[in-house]
Amino acid sequence: METTLQPELHQHLQDAKARIDAATAAEELRAVERDYIDKGGVVAGLLAAITTLPPEQRRDAGQGANILKGAVLKALGDRKAELEAMAIDAARSGHGFDPSLPGTSIRRGSLHPVTRVTRELEDIFSSMGYDILDGPEVEIDVYNFERLNIPGDHPARDMHDTFWCEVNGAERDSNMGLLLRTHTSCVQVRTMERLQPPFRVVVPGRVFRQETVDASHEHTFHQMEGLVVGEGLTVGHLIGTMKTFLREVFQKEIEVRLRPGYFPFVEPGFELDARCPFCATPGAGCRVCKQTGWVELCPCGMVHPAVLQMSGIDTEKYTGFAFGLGLSRLVMLRYEIDDIRHLMGGDTRFLSQF
Ligand code: DAH
Repeated sequence: METTLQPELHQHLQDAKARIDAATAAEELRAVERDYIDKGGVVAGLLAAITTLPPEQRRDAGQGANILKGAVLKALGDRKAELEAMAIDAARSGHGFDPSLPGTSIRRGSLHPVTRVTRELEDIFSSMGYDILDGPEVEIDVYNFERLNIPGDHPARDMHDTFWCEVNGAERDSNMGLLLRTHTSCVQVRTMERLQPPFRVVVPGRVFRQETVDASHEHTFHQMEGLVVGEGLTVGHLIGTMKTFLREVFQKEIEVRLRPGYFPFVEPGFELDARCPFCATPGAGCRVCKQTGWVELCPCGMVHPAVLQMSGIDTEKYTGFAFGLGLSRLVMLRYEIDDIRHLMGGDTRFLSQF
């Protein structure tokens, strides 16, 4: 703006700014305001002089005076804020204490919605006797695929758009197929290697896929894996577990249904749906369930005997079931978030709502 000012106005602005920058107290700023902005000040003088100008010059002159006024006021405001901040700093560091200054407000953080839901589910599963486990986010092919019954040429690999890691320029074949885990199911294998059955575990965590990002796809999202291995476990136990879990989450009885689903590490495999807990009348249909009366809850199934065997578990004695809760989806359902990108976006305007 300054550059459009006529030389005379420009000079006024320079002078005012020099005084403002040099000011160290409110009175000095007030004096500048008096000289430039108040009645009888420079700006007022310029405006008064307009009437003496030829008509074709009046518009520019008026605009110039107003620009000068705005610039001086802005510089005054900025310097005032600066001086106040300096006073607060000084008071804080012990150079004098001014009890009349407003206190500095402390901005409190809050828990991320994914953290909230994760903790809530952890509490529920703990109360059902589950251990909560963790696993590495950078995995090797063997755990993420091979021992889950997904060998190198298996078409199921195409479903997992994998981020492969390069280590010191060494690619996939020479670094054990290092990758960012595409699901939390890899921790199933790690668990079976480490624990003796019977056991029940849940594993919340981040997973990664090379997805084209849109409102319902993210390259980074959250899952919670469940794995239970013991004697005599059946599909009935799986259904019972999911019903208990849903009762705890929604504090009411919720009907579930199984549809067949294919995942190489479970047999039989299912998609488990729950009666939409948000419909006014159960099953009536609403916005959340897209009028179907059901929401997809999780893929699940009975652990494939080959998977148990590969991890050294005696399949004569033990069976197991597993489920893969889509944590990100549950968070979105719970808080009616319609765009998954909000979850990892880090925008505090979104996050401060929780
Ligand atoms: N890991 C699968 C995925 O991300 C989901 C899944 C399916 C997990 C079936 C399970 C399961 O535990 O039994 O696509």
